Amino acid sequence: MSLWGGRFSEPTDDDLKRLNDSFGFDRRMYRQDIHGSIAYARAIRDANVITPEECEQICSGLEQVLAEFESGSFDTTPADEDIHTAVERRLTEMIGPVAGKLHTGRSRNDQVATDLRLWTIDAIKEMDSLLDHLQQALVEQASAHTDTLMPGYTHVQPAQPIVAGHWLMSFFWMIARDRDRLRDASRRTSEMPLGSGALAGNPFAIDREKLAEDLNFTSHSQNSLDGVSDRDFVAEMLFALALVGTHLSRLGEDIVLYSNPGFGFIRLNDRYSTGSSIMPQKRNADPMELARGKAGRLLGNLTGFMATLKGLPSSYNKDIQEDKEALFDSVDTLHAILPVVIAIVSTLNINVEKCRAALADDMLATELADYLVDKGIPFREAHHLVGASVRLTEQTGRTLTTLSLEQYQSISPHFEQGLFDSLSFERAVARKSAIGGTAPTAVRQQIDTARQWLAQWNQ
Ligand code: ARG
Repeated sequence: MSLWGGRFSEPTDDDLKRLNDSFGFDRRMYRQDIHGSIAYARAIRDANVITPEECEQICSGLEQVLAEFESGSFDTTPADEDIHTAVERRLTEMIGPVAGKLHTGRSRNDQVATDLRLWTIDAIKEMDSLLDHLQQALVEQASAHTDTLMPGYTHVQPAQPIVAGHWLMSFFWMIARDRDRLRDASRRTSEMPLGSGALAGNPFAIDREKLAEDLNFTSHSQNSLDGVSDRDFVAEMLFALALVGTHLSRLGEDIVLYSNPGFGFIRLNDRYSTGSSIMPQKRNADPMELARGKAGRLLGNLTGFMATLKGLPSSYNKDIQEDKEALFDSVDTLHAILPVVIAIVSTLNINVEKCRAALADDMLATELADYLVDKGIPFREAHHLVGASVRLTEQTGRTLTTLSLEQYQSISPHFEQGLFDSLSFERAVARKSAIGGTAPTAVRQQIDTARQWLAQWNQ
């Protein structure tokens, strides 16, 4: 029998039941649901709604139900519409009708909102630790490659030389912002809706401040209508996760590209490469393509759920039940991707020679312009003169380092012998020594800063 069957003379249609039930996916909130119920039982005991003995019975019964979930021995019945119903049904079987007092003044509306917030806060902690591992892996790999020269690209066109450690560290900072964003979301999620009732509030003068404290919330909601229907925290979480996915997707794209033999900069460890069923030579970066592909799904969860929320009348509406599958899927998706991405970064084999061999002299064009700038030529004019030099390399089949001084001087008398000193990849990166640049010295400094960031974050 369902919790609300009293007013109906016919049982619920089977198809409706399948559509309506959420136990299949919300059972994973059992821990939060039971902890919430234990705290609520104490709150109504303190408000003299139930006696201390009844509270004791209810709480120890709930502990037993929790133990059944933990050990996998919880038996489901068809009446288990959702996690809240299931727990109460089992509690009733265990302790009898006194179980029916637990729900006094409470609604599944404030209950589910509370459970999901608690679940989200826990999920953020786990996500934070996974992201920590990814950052550690990036720092380790980067610190081994602070002197490894490689081409840097814009528009996927060769642009300027950089060091590989700099490339890797760019992802460190994206993840740092992700962690900060999640922590920020967690702060707003930590607002307890319990005590909002179905929509209008709690009639039993419970102490919501104490209840919030018992459940480790930092505050409680101020408006019961908002309390039962606010799912901003879900939307924020979905956004934060979609952005993590977007960052992993971009890393994925780089790794797919750089592991292509045409680039050959990196090689994925055998354990993280896949082959082809027909082409024996293939070494595919499937896991990074999946990281890239799943970003779409994470974004879909966000936009789908935003569409669900938009236009909802105030207070609780069943549409809101859609929050959980979107949220769980995004969290699960990242739990599937992240361990693999972390392992790939840790075991990445960067081919120092191939990275170096991919550097071409025209990536030094800006250096040559800077050489002219040092001689007092305005940058715009320098840009033009170097552009003409590049054109000359194309016409003569030479490169910026093999053009003769005479050929340079046919373009401008400002070119002198010293120009050739500027045409060095090592020198090009070393000059980008301002904080945040690709000079090995600056990258080492960046890595130190990153290590400090990690130490502070984990304090
Ligand atoms: N399973 C429901 C959900 O996830 C619980 C709240 C049900 N409330 C209701 N009024 N039907 O949203």
